[in-house]
Amino acid sequence: MKRVITYGTFDLLHYGHIELLRRAKALGDYLVVGLSTDEFNWDSKRKKAYFPYEKRKALLEAIRYVDLVIPEKSWDQKDSDIAEYHIDTFVMGDDWAGKFDFVEKDTGAQVIYLPRTPEISTSKIKQDLNMK
Ligand code: CTP
Repeated sequence: MKRVITYGTFDLLHYGHIELLRRAKALGDYLVVGLSTDEFNWDSKRKKAYFPYEKRKALLEAIRYVDLVIPEKSWDQKDSDIAEYHIDTFVMGDDWAGKFDFVEKDTGAQVIYLPRTPEISTSKIKQDLNMK
């Protein structure tokens, strides 16, 4: 079985997220999502999610492409997650292109950056709805 992992906040779930998850799952048989906790979002990214972690997790778990959701609590957990969940492929959107090449060197898992779906993001939804 080929196992894939990806990470993100997935707040105000939108079709760009679904496309990312669909293409990530298509690269293997089992998809793990490392979902940023509220603390990690705030402490490391200065981002406040609209939906709290447990709600974002429930939404992701309802998506047919997602097999397992685990908490992302730090930048440094990728190598240990990949070992623990026997991951073959690490996927991120290409806004992160080049940033995780070290994972391939550290773990041997293949790193793939998928093109982002144009013109949609959580930030844009917030901006358009004037929630920011
Ligand atoms: N993503 C994507 N296409 C988009 C938006 C997001 O492929 N239009 C991908 C990101 O590249 C990432 C994953 O979905 O791999 C989760 O992204 P996240 O940062 O949670 O969502 P964004 O909509 O980019 O949120 P923000 O605007 O807060 O950065």
